[in-house]
Amino acid sequence: MLRNTFNNEIASLLAEDNWLLAQEEYDRQENLNWESRFGLVSGYMSSRGSEICATSRPTLPATYIHGIFDRSEAFMRELANMPDWAKLKVYVNRQPIGVETEGLEDYLRALDMKNGLLASHYTVSDASGARIRVESLKLLSRAHPQCGLIRLYLTPLDGDAHFELENLIDGTVANFIDYPRFRTRHFEITENGKGKLGVYMECHTRDFKTPVGIGACVEGEGISSRAIKPYGEVACEFFDLHAKKGQTVRVDKFAAIATGRDTDGVKWRVTRLLEEVTTRGADAEIKMHIDKYQELWRMADLEIEGDDKMQKAMRFNIFHLMSTPNPYDDRVNIGPKLMHGEEYGGHAYWDTELFCLPFFTWVFPKIARNLVNYRGHLLDAARRNARDNGYLGAKYPWESADTGDEECPSWSVEYDGTCTRCYVADYEHHVTSAVAFGLVDYVRVTGDRSLFEEFGLELLLETARFWSSRMVWSDKKQAYEILQVTGPDEWHEPVDNNYYTNRMAVWNIHTAVDELKAMQKSRPDLAAAICQKIALTDDEINLWLDRAAKIYLPDTTGVIEQFEGYFDIPDAVITQWDDKAMPIMPESCVGKERKDHPILKQADVVMLMKLLPDELSLEVQRLNYDYYEKRTLHRSSLSPSAHAQVGVQLGLDERAYQYLERSSYVDIDNNQRNLREGLHAASIGGTWQAIVMGYCGMHLDKEGELAFSPKLPEQWSKVRFRINWRGKDKLVTIEDNKATVSDLA
Ligand code: BGC
Repeated sequence: MLRNTFNNEIASLLAEDNWLLAQEEYDRQENLNWESRFGLVSGYMSSRGSEICATSRPTLPATYIHGIFDRSEAFMRELANMPDWAKLKVYVNRQPIGVETEGLEDYLRALDMKNGLLASHYTVSDASGARIRVESLKLLSRAHPQCGLIRLYLTPLDGDAHFELENLIDGTVANFIDYPRFRTRHFEITENGKGKLGVYMECHTRDFKTPVGIGACVEGEGISSRAIKPYGEVACEFFDLHAKKGQTVRVDKFAAIATGRDTDGVKWRVTRLLEEVTTRGADAEIKMHIDKYQELWRMADLEIEGDDKMQKAMRFNIFHLMSTPNPYDDRVNIGPKLMHGEEYGGHAYWDTELFCLPFFTWVFPKIARNLVNYRGHLLDAARRNARDNGYLGAKYPWESADTGDEECPSWSVEYDGTCTRCYVADYEHHVTSAVAFGLVDYVRVTGDRSLFEEFGLELLLETARFWSSRMVWSDKKQAYEILQVTGPDEWHEPVDNNYYTNRMAVWNIHTAVDELKAMQKSRPDLAAAICQKIALTDDEINLWLDRAAKIYLPDTTGVIEQFEGYFDIPDAVITQWDDKAMPIMPESCVGKERKDHPILKQADVVMLMKLLPDELSLEVQRLNYDYYEKRTLHRSSLSPSAHAQVGVQLGLDERAYQYLERSSYVDIDNNQRNLREGLHAASIGGTWQAIVMGYCGMHLDKEGELAFSPKLPEQWSKVRFRINWRGKDKLVTIEDNKATVSDLA
C-alpha cells in the first residue's frame, strides 16, 4: 500500500491505492509534466504541482485565479500567473534541502484523487552526509476555496538538526517564463511585507488594475526567531526549527487570496480568511476539505468494473474536471488546459460547450448553469463582435476571456522570430453554433426552461441571425453559401461550404425558430417582448428559414465532402503509427502545405455525427467514419474522444476502444506530448461522454425522456455513474447491457 509509506498522520488521511496517482521517481525530464498532473484547483484558484521546497528544475510554478486576466505585452488577455504562495524553503547549514539535494532516496509523490490531497516524501543528505526525511501534504481547500494549506514534516535521521525555513510568496513569477519571446509579467506589486498574520503581498493586474492580495502564515511547535524579511519581489518570513535525531517537526503553512473581483478591501479580506482558517486549525480544515470532496464524488464517480487502468484514468480525469469551474461565479469559464498550465490563456473555446459542459449538465447542473450564464453575460460583446466583422446578430469569439472580445491573436511569432498571420479568429466561426448547442442541450436535459426566458431565447435568435447574415447567395448554385470559413479541421483554412459549419448553422436557425414558437405558446407576452427588444419581425424569421432551406449542403448519400473541393486534393491515407499509437503523417504529404494534402487535424464530419447522430443513416455514417479515420491525424486532443463515441454508436468496437484509451490516457500517458502546458479539458469531458453516452448509451428519446442503449466493452463487467435527472440524484447501473436507474442514497 502506497499510503503506508507515509508517516501516520498523512497515511491516516490518504485513500486506498486505486485512488492514488503516484510518481515514484524524480526525473527532471518529466518534471513539468508531473507539475501539470499534480495541479490542484479549489474552484476559485489553482496551484500547479511544483515542489514545495522549490528546488526542482525545470519548474513552472503557477497560481491562476478565475477571472484574473491581463494582456499587457502578451498577444491576448490571458489568465495571469500570480505570486506563488505554495513554497516553504528549508536550509540545513545554509544548504537548501529538496529533491535536487544529494542522496535523494525513497521519492514518492501521490495525488489522492478521492480527497484532493497532494502528498510527497523523500530522503536527502545534508552536506555532512546526514539524512533528512522530508514529507508534505498540500491542498487547496474546497471548503474555503480562497485558502490553501501545506503541511511539511522534517525528520533528521542520523543526528540532531537545526533547520532554517522561509515562508515565501514568490512575486518573481511571470507567464511563459521559459519562452523569452512570450514571457509577460501581468501584475505590479504594490505592497510586500508584513500582514496581521505572517507575510502579505498585494499587487494589481497591469491593464485593469484589479487588486489581488495574498497572505501566508506558518504555525508549528518549536518555531523560533520569526522575522519578516521581504527581499525584492519575494515576501519572506524567516524562522527556525530544531529537531533531535529521529524526531519529526511539523510546520503548517496557511495561505489566503482575495481579489478586487470579490471585495473592495483585499487586505482586510485576506486577513479575515487567515484568521478564520488558523482559528479552525489545519486538522479541521483538512477534514472539511475532504468532506467536500466526498460530496463531489458522491455525484461524480464513474465506476468501471473489470478495467483498473481505465478506472484510475477516469477518476484522474473527473477529479481535475470537476475541481476546476467556480461553483459560485457565473462570469468565469473553463480553459482548454483547465487551470493547470499556461497554454491558450485560460480562454473559453467551443471545448466548453461541446466537450466539458455535458458532464456538468448531467452531474452538476448548477455548475453547468454558471458556464452557460457566462455566455449570456457576454451576449452584448458577441453582438459587438458580429457588428465589427460586418455581420448581424451575435457572433461569439473563437477565444473568450472576461470581456467577451475576441482573444484569439491575429499574429503568432515562431521561435526564430518569423511572424505568421493567424486566421483562426477570422474564419473559425462554428463556436457560435456550439454555444447555442450547449445551451439547448442544458435546457433539454435539466428541464430548466427559465434559462430561455432569462437570456437563452435571445441568444438563440441572435446567433441564428448571425448565421443568416453569414450566408451569401450563389446564382450558379442556386443556393446560399458560407464562404471563407474554417471547420473543426483547422488544417484546411479557409474553405468554402464546410459541411459541419453549414449544417450546424441550419441547426442553429431551426432550433431558434422552434424555441421561439414554443415560447409564443407558453409565454406570448415574453416572446413578443424579446422580439421587440431585438427588433425581430416575422419577415426576418422567414428570411432565415428560406436561407436555411436553400443552403448548400454536399451529397450526403455516400462519403460526404468535408468542404467544397476537398475531393480534388491529391489523396493520401495514414499507414503508420508511432510508439504512442498516434498516426504518422503519410510520407507523400510531408513537406506539403496543409491545404495541398487531405490529412485532417481532427474530427470534422465525424464530429457532426457525434452531435447529430440521427442525421445520417448508420450505413452512411460507417462509410464516412472509415473514410475520414484513414485521413485524420488526431493532432488535436479533441479528436480521439469523438471517434470513440461515434465508433461505439456505429458498432466499431475495437476501433472505438482504441480511441477511448487514447483519449482517456491523454494526460496519464502524455500521448499528445504537450502535457507541460496543462491538462486536456476537452479530451477529459469528451471521454466521459464517450463512456456515458457512447458505451452506456445514455440519451434523450424523442419525447425527451431518459433512455439507454448500452453496449459495454467485453472486459468491463459493470459501470455505475450518477446523474441529476430533473432535480433528483440518480444512480445508473449498466450490467449485462441493461440499464437500471435508482434513487441515489
Ligand atoms: C483545436 C481546437 C480547440 C483548441 C483548444 C486546437 O488545437 O484544433 O479545436 O478548440 O485547440 O483546445
